Amino acid sequence: MKPVLKVEGLKKYFPIKSLLRTIAWVKAVDGITLEIMSGETFGLVGESGCGKTTTGRTILRLIEPTEGKIIFKGKDVMSLKGKDLLWFRRNAQIMFQDPYSSLNPRQTVFNIIMEPVRFHGIEVDDPEEFVIKLLESVGLNEMHLYRYPHEFSGGQRQRIALARLMALKPEFIVLDEPTSALDVSVQANILNTLKELQSEYGFTYLFISHDLGVVKYMSHRIGVMYLGKLVEVGPSDRIFENPLHPYTQMLLSAIPVPDPELAQELKAKRKMVKGEPPSPVNPPAGCRFHPRCPFAKDVCRKEEPPLVEVERDHYVACWLYAKS
Ligand SMILES: Nc1ncnc2c1ncn2[C@@H]1O[C@H](COP(=O)(O)OP(=O)(O)O)[C@@H](O)[C@H]1O
Ligand SMILES: [Mg+2]
Repeated sequence: MKPVLKVEGLKKYFPIKSLLRTIAWVKAVDGITLEIMSGETFGLVGESGCGKTTTGRTILRLIEPTEGKIIFKGKDVMSLKGKDLLWFRRNAQIMFQDPYSSLNPRQTVFNIIMEPVRFHGIEVDDPEEFVIKLLESVGLNEMHLYRYPHEFSGGQRQRIALARLMALKPEFIVLDEPTSALDVSVQANILNTLKELQSEYGFTYLFISHDLGVVKYMSHRIGVMYLGKLVEVGPSDRIFENPLHPYTQMLLSAIPVPDPELAQELKAKRKMVKGEPPSPVNPPAGCRFHPRCPFAKDVCRKEEPPLVEVERDHYVACWLYAKS
């Protein structure tokens, strides 16, 4: 399989200013390297504030990176101009978390979906039929064609947003917590629609969520993020059956387990780690997770562990596994 997207050493620092001077930097993304293969869903998971959204937006060139390379289908995204940049804009799309702010309230569904189609100069024989087909593919129908966003529920709005981006037939879609604002019952329906569309059209997804259960359901591979870094990357089932990084183990132990006996067993196995993530302004030296890690040794406080392949396709950045 070919990578659709390659990211190398991606960094995004936001300046903190006081009296027009930069006094510090928020290291939102601090050196991320990853590859996403054609037709796969790569899940990015981690606590709120760890840099998931910034990663997604920087990859799409909605935010300028501080450092690093983004290669989309063999092309260097940061150097794209003119027609090539338009090609990238059409082929790499994003679906946001908030179903209420992402649609223009003064436009009908028909116009909302046709706007990017017209912008990109895509020829459509019968616009009405074209939009109806898109609506049907996301579980809506022609009755919705000339309605306005306020007439829809949150879940339906996300479906409209999905139809709008599908109109462009993009290859790559960043899904940034697309269902986090929705009721659980609605969430599952939308996630299933996303999966169905992927198997029909071969979309490649970067699926972002703080919810490990949802990420597991959606993703072929998972990257676990902590304070701007990837600490573990691997196939979804392996991350769940055999989490290697103490942080991943902590995230897993926070998922409610319905079976009380199993819950006890898991609790004993995975030591709970307490505390809140430190600030990305002055991340801890060495391994960023060391202040919360029950296994921290000397080297963890001093040196940053590299992301190394511990078993096939399963990477972890932790001194428990790397040779110091
Ligand atoms: N435009 C911005 N200016 C300054 N700081 C920002 C900006 N956007 C995000 N941040 C900070 O960067 C860090 C990562 O944020 P974000 O990428 O939104 O994390 P996540 O999506 O994982 O919750 C946070 O500390 C956040 O406050
Ligand atoms: Mg976010």
